[in-house]
Order: sequence, then C-alpha cells, then structure tokens
Amino acid sequence: MPAFIKAMLPALLAWTVSAQKPQFPPAFPPTPALPSSVNYAPSITPNVLDATAPNAQAECPGYRASNIRETQNSLTADLVLAGEACDLYGYDIHELTLNVEYQAKERLSVKIYPRYLASNNESLYTLSPDLTPQPSAEEGSNKAGSDLVFTWSNDPSFQFRVSRAGSGEVLFDTFGKKIVFEDQFLELVTSMVPDYNIYGLAESLRAFRLPNKFTQTFWNAYNLDNDNILDVNGHSTHPVYLETRYSNGTSKSHGVYARNAHGQDWLLRPDSITYRTIGGSFEFYFLSGSKPKDVISQYQTGVITTPYLPAYWHLGFQQNRWGYLNWTNLQDVIDAYADAGIQLEAFTNDLDYLNLNRIFTHKDPQYNVEEGQRFLERLHASGQYYLPILDPNVYAPAPENQTDIYPPYDRGVELDVYIRSGANTSEYYYGVLWNGFSAYPDFMSPAAQQFWTEQFVEYHEQLAYDGWWLDVSDATSFCTGSCGTGMLDENPIHVPFPLPGDPNTSVAVDYRYPEAFNLTNATEAASASASLASQSSAYPTPTATPTPVLARTLPTPGVRNLTFPPYAINNFLPGHSLVKQVLSPDAVHKNGMTEYELHNLYGHTSANASYHALLQAIPGKRPWIQSRATFAGTGNFSGHWGGDTNSKWGNMYFGISQALQFAIAGIPYFGVETCGFNGNADMQLCTRWMQLSAWFPLYRNHNNRNTIAQEAYRWSTTAEATRRIMDIRYTLLPYTYTLFHKANTAGETVLRALAWEFPDEEDLKAVETQFMSGPSILVTPVLEALATTVKGLFPGVGSGTIWYDWYSLQKVDAIAGENKTLQAPLVHQPIHVRGGSIIPMQKAGNTTKTSRMMPWSLLIALDKNGEAQGELYLDDGISIHPDETKNVELRFSRGILSTKVSGEYNDGLSLANITIAGAHGRQHRGWSAHHGGKACDTQRAKMMYGEGGVLYMTDLGESTRDGIWSGDFEMRLH
Ligand code: NOJ
Repeated sequence: MPAFIKAMLPALLAWTVSAQKPQFPPAFPPTPALPSSVNYAPSITPNVLDATAPNAQAECPGYRASNIRETQNSLTADLVLAGEACDLYGYDIHELTLNVEYQAKERLSVKIYPRYLASNNESLYTLSPDLTPQPSAEEGSNKAGSDLVFTWSNDPSFQFRVSRAGSGEVLFDTFGKKIVFEDQFLELVTSMVPDYNIYGLAESLRAFRLPNKFTQTFWNAYNLDNDNILDVNGHSTHPVYLETRYSNGTSKSHGVYARNAHGQDWLLRPDSITYRTIGGSFEFYFLSGSKPKDVISQYQTGVITTPYLPAYWHLGFQQNRWGYLNWTNLQDVIDAYADAGIQLEAFTNDLDYLNLNRIFTHKDPQYNVEEGQRFLERLHASGQYYLPILDPNVYAPAPENQTDIYPPYDRGVELDVYIRSGANTSEYYYGVLWNGFSAYPDFMSPAAQQFWTEQFVEYHEQLAYDGWWLDVSDATSFCTGSCGTGMLDENPIHVPFPLPGDPNTSVAVDYRYPEAFNLTNATEAASASASLASQSSAYPTPTATPTPVLARTLPTPGVRNLTFPPYAINNFLPGHSLVKQVLSPDAVHKNGMTEYELHNLYGHTSANASYHALLQAIPGKRPWIQSRATFAGTGNFSGHWGGDTNSKWGNMYFGISQALQFAIAGIPYFGVETCGFNGNADMQLCTRWMQLSAWFPLYRNHNNRNTIAQEAYRWSTTAEATRRIMDIRYTLLPYTYTLFHKANTAGETVLRALAWEFPDEEDLKAVETQFMSGPSILVTPVLEALATTVKGLFPGVGSGTIWYDWYSLQKVDAIAGENKTLQAPLVHQPIHVRGGSIIPMQKAGNTTKTSRMMPWSLLIALDKNGEAQGELYLDDGISIHPDETKNVELRFSRGILSTKVSGEYNDGLSLANITIAGAHGRQHRGWSAHHGGKACDTQRAKMMYGEGGVLYMTDLGESTRDGIWSGDFEMRLH
C-alpha cells in the first residue's frame, strides 16, 4: 500500500465511520413534529387536594386479629376484615398476616401482608430482598431483652402501639385508627405528640425539621423547567424518619422506616401522620435510638447496610458544565484551574462528548478517541480523573435507515435486556430522551447486568474513564407511554420541547441572575432583563394546552389500574399524573413486575448495576458512581447529587437540609451543583457557594449550557475565597476520610446537624443554617447576598464546651443560646473547632494524591479539662479490599500526647507539627518523646507560645522519620 494512502488511512477510516453517523444533534423543533399526543396525559386531582375524596378511616372496616402465635422473639396473627369491604381506592384484601419480630435489642419489625398470595402476584406486595436490604432477626434476639414493646388490641378493630420498654413512652400509635389494606391503597395513621420534631423522608428541597402541616410524596421525578421546587417530591425515595422528643433538658430519639417502594404520600398533620401507599405491604422497622446518632447508625448498620467507603480521590473537587465542546476546551479549563492555583481533582463531562447523545459513543472530531486517550494520559499523569455522564436509556436506531448504526442497542436486543411496553407483548418500551426514542434496560435482570458490564468494559478499553455520573435514572422519559412505538424511523428525534441552549428558542440563553444581582451589577442586570424580554417576545413559550381533569377512577375487581390508580398521590409534575415524564407505570420488566411497583427503584437498580460493571471495567478499585435517583440502601454503592438546582441564594440555603436528609438516608457522599445549575451565577453567590460546598463530600461546580461560565477562577474574589477554603478542605482530608470509614463501618454520619451532636439542646432542633463536619468542626456559612457578617450558635457552651476559631485558634467568647455575630467578609467563612478534639491533618497539595504525600500535623484543641482525643483511619485510599489498614487513637491528657496504632499500613510520613489550642496557663518549656518505644531526637524541633495560649511545636520531622504511624508515639510536655 502506498505510504501516502497508509498515512491517510486513519483519516479515511474516521471519515467512513463518521459518514455513517449523523453528526449534529437532532434539531428543534423536531422534524417531523412529534404528534401532540406524545407528551399528553390527562390531569388528575391528588387526593390530598381533593376535598370530596372519601375518607378511608370513616368508610373502611379495619381488621380483627385472631390465631395469635407467640415465640420468644415474635408474634404472628391472622388479620381478617372486620366488616364489609369498603373497596375505596382498590380492592380490600380480606385476610392478612401480621408478623412482629423483636429483631435486635434496638429493632422491632411489624409486617402486614396478604395471607394468601398466588406466586405470580407475590411480588406486587413483597419487596424482594434482592432489590433492597430486608433485615431479619439477629441471633438470640428476644422480646425480654428488647428496648421496644409491641402491644395491640381488637377494640374496636386491630390497632397497635410500639413503646419503649421500661418508660412505656409510646413511639408509634395506631390506636383509634383503622388499618386499610387494598390492592392499590394502604393506609395507616399514627398519633403524634404535639409539635413533633421529625427529620428525614428524603428527598425534597425543604426545611430540615419537617413541618407538621405538610405532605411528603414519593414518586421519583424530574422537571426540566424547574427541578428545584420547594416541598415537592424529588429524585429519590427514602421512607425513613428520625423523631426527637425533648423533655427536662434532655432528649430521646427513635426512628421509623417503612420498607415500601410504591408511590406514596406521608401526610404530616399537627397530631398525626397518615401513611398511604398505592400498593405493596406494611413493613415497618422501629429503631429505639435513643440519641439521633444511634438511630441513624441503627438504620444504616442494621437495616439498609452502611455507606460505601469512597476512594480518597472522590473527596477532591470536580468541575463540570453542560457545554464544554471538545477536549481542548476541557484542557483549557484544567490549565486555568492550575494557573489560578485552585485544586481540581476531576472533570465530570456532560452530554457534549457523546455522538448525538448516545451512550458509549464519542462525538467526532470534537471528542475524538485518540485525542481523548492523549488527554487522559496527561490527566492521569497529573493525578486527576475523568468522569463522563451516563444516561441509562439506550438509543433505538431507525430501522429503515441502513446508516443509523448503533451496536449497543443491537447487543441489548440480542441479550433481550429492555423493559417492555406492556404485559403480553414482546414490544420494547420506547420513551424519549436527549438522544431520541430509546429503550430502557431492565437492570434487575442478569442479562442487563451482562450488557452493562460489557459496555463498560469495552468503552474503558477505548477511553480509560474513572467512573460514571448516572443521570436521569428517575427514570425519565419526556413523553407519555411508549411513544416511540411505530415511530422509530423518525429517529434521531429531538425531545418535544427546546433544550437549554437550542438556538432560536425561548431557552437559547438563560438571562436569569441571583437575587441581589440588580444591586451589585445594575447595568448588567438591566441589560439581561431587556434581553430576556426580547427573547421571550421573539420566541414566546407556547401556552400549554389545558388537559382535561380526569375524574377519580374507581376500582375494578381483579384489575389494578396502573396508570391512573384510584388514589392519586400528590406528584408535583404538571397534571399530577403518574405517567408524566417517567417510564409509564404499565411498562413491564422481564420478571413480569411493572414500573408501577418498581418506578422508585430504577435509580437504585441502575446504580447497582453500574457499580458492579465498574468493578469489572476497573478491577480492584473503588467505583465512583453517583446516581440522580436513589432508594433506601443506594448509599451502599453510590453517591447522589441534589439535581438541577438554581443559581439562587434560596436554593443554596436548602442544600444544607438536603445534605442532612441524605445523612439520615445513608448517602453521605452527597453534594449539590455548586454555584447553581439553572440561571447565571454571579460573583457573590458563587463565592459563598464554593465556600459552603467545600464541606459537602461530593464537591462539584456544574452549570447549564445556556448560562455564563462559573468556574471558580472566573471572578478574582471567588478564586481567592476558593483557594482559602479548598486549602482547608484538603488539609482536612485525613479527618474526612476517617469520618467515611466510621460511616462505612459503624453507620456514623459525615455532615451532621447541630442537634445530633448536642442532642439535649432544644434550641438546636431546627437549626439549618449551620452544620458540623464530623464531631469536631462547626461551619457557619454565609447564605445571604451582600452579607459580611453571619450569626451562629455555639452549642454546648452552657455545659462547658469550648470552641476555637479555626483561623486564629482563639477561644470563642459565647454564651448559651446567643446567636453570635461573626465577621465574614467575602473571602472568609467562619469555621470553629470543638474543644476536646485532636485532628490529624496534612498540608494541602494540588490534588488529593499530593496532599497524601505531605508530612503530618496535629491540631489539638483542648477542652475545659485540658484534654482532647481523636481518631485516624488510613489505607491506600483506592483498593476495594486494601491489604493493609491503619487505625490510630489519639489522646492528650495532663500534658501527654499518646497515640495507639493498630494495623500494618504505613505511609512513611513523619509528624512535622503539633499545635495546641487552649494551652493557657499551662506554660511548658520543653518536651520529650518516644516513638515505637525509642526516644526521639527532638533537637531541631521548636516550641513557641502564640497569642491566646496557642502552643506551636514545629520541625518535628526528624524524630518520626520512619512514619509517625509506624509505631505508638508519646510526647510529654515539661
Ligand atoms: C440533567 C442533569 O441533572 C444535569 O446535571 C445535566 O447537565 C443535564 N441532564 C444534561 O445532561
């Protein structure tokens, strides 16, 4: 072959390959226009908003218990309908089984499920343990040893209570209320104490302490127009709450988890909670606590399994945006971060890299594979990572178009992995998403796992990505029903509305700015609002055709109405119906189950499949996967981000409560789109948000493609504030990693509410503007535009807790209950360290990798008795099963610091500095130390007292040159 042809071959091949593929995203408006039926669904009135809806408590008969059987740790009974069936929102199940189990000292389960089930409909009622953990009784558990007591009565119908053993305090109480159990409707009511304090029930953007006139709905949903509406159902379903009751200066907490994935409403009312689901069974787990931390840990260790341990690099900062057009663009951003001296650990790449938004492809030439390989080599060599987006839906090529070739779809057909459009059909379900009409793998099936794993492995062979960001796993489809059926030849079709950034549309450019932008940038604000007005008049948003409101449907004997069930949950999406913007509830999985039962689990199962596929693609390493939709237990293999938040101060504010919801839910690896996704950020907002998110384990900046750039280096003040806060974050990596280890092994939390650390202080019960990172760091972020001060409480000071300012290490002068004003100029975030803590630290490097190579230092913040303690966990930070680990206990008392190490892992790094805050009046002139039993050479070390009793001991390096954690260390001050 002539040399010149040889030289041209790659280009020719690339040309042939690209000639087969349409190279531009499908255009808006879709050609041909999608029929209007595509996105159409009649509206319904949610029951909670319908004053005429019948009341099940008034109309249904309840049940009577008989045939009671008791063992040492269980009680079972038959429950039989106590009167004529009401058949209100479904068909009453006449005979039920009650099963109560004293599962562990602190855990009691109460299950009520149909007594007779044909094997083919069992799954409608019982959530399989293969899907999400289902705890069973621990060995030796018994009623006599339980913290909790179950009591019941048949008068006037079956009702039960769960109380604390000993005190008899009633925690859950259905007395005076009926149990309703129909095939499409379950209801149970518990009385609540006045002004109750409950927390959890993720996910919704709302107050930390749940209001007691509020309905929490669970139906995982995505609204592209405004994904962050307050108080409505979010992307995830976590039917678990923590309740705290205060009395006489102390508190007790307990937890309730209702294991059911169906669409559901929790009606929080002043004296009761009504729990309603549209199917499944009652499956409650009561946790005795009795402190908030105990409840959370009992939930995670005993019920859903604990959160995974992230790799060390997962804790670094990530940059993203929708709209990075090519590899060069990414490289420029990386370089700009380096030039600005701001740490950047990973790039999360949005849809831009994909050919026509089809998963497992590359857009040529912008994201050419060979260039990508070179890009990744450089990235990895500098200790950075690449995390592209992944949508679970698979593009379905146009059958008549010979050039529309998309092997992943064909492989899915070959393995028969896709969800079907209904019962008794072999037709796949085709929804519409960014790539056009597409099919959805049924991640519960082994074939789908095989398919997913193959795709992950093959793609990794081309491009060595480091993890996936699993989007739209809610599961989303922007049309109603299997709208692609019979229409695949129109592919690639655009979604039936303009996407952000689509030229010549009402959303071509987003002109919205944060709240105070008109005060800080009056001219720009005026010009933005003029541009918005002219864009809106040139491209008016079509007014939505009002859809008829469907009357409440009535139950039909023996038939479940999957799309419009008789009870309508309060789904917030336009029209409220269950078929809107999701895979329709009548779509059928391979095992015969429908999306009606499984909708809220799609994020969970797809993230789980992705986790296992990643283990094959990148063997031995801890997978990085974050899923937009989650369920109870997802934290065991995935993180989560808070959805398309807006660049608004209010949205930033509620991110804290959202993070705390996920702390309860067992997903500590949580973060929000820093600086906001929809709308433009400005300098003030982005600065404060970069500061706030620096405490969120998942730390990433991400925005929409029709907004201005908002990387942390874009404004000099933001850059400066970011450098300062990121230095703190990276310095604290050993502390944060240790917190994750404790989360993984003991169900402890990483971000914490003040009320969890100081459970007896009632004035903390609704604090949502401050939070703690672990037990030792108190963060008081600025959440308001233009503020240069912020107010914060200092918990525990009434009972002697000392707080030190992070920066000066001076003791805070605060009194109990005082909302103290703290100085907070833009580049500064108030942070305080709790007396009694020892925090192991390493100076920040430019990545987590270089940070891990820095010598150690210890911050010892003394409590009122001059004592402190801390912990440290270390391993290689990456292996799924590390060969060696290290645990260190640190203690300071009576002028002696001692460490006790266990485990073999040794990073070989010395201890360079010790800083002691609160060393007032304890004037020491020298010190001696032993390491691994040998006396240390302390000659070169220096010791100095600073202002306010801070003792600095520096240049300790020589004495522990074999690695400070290689043996026990003892240091005595003289
Ligand atoms: C929705 C995601 O939530 C958002 O983060 C992403 O940028 C868009 N999909 C486009 O992929």
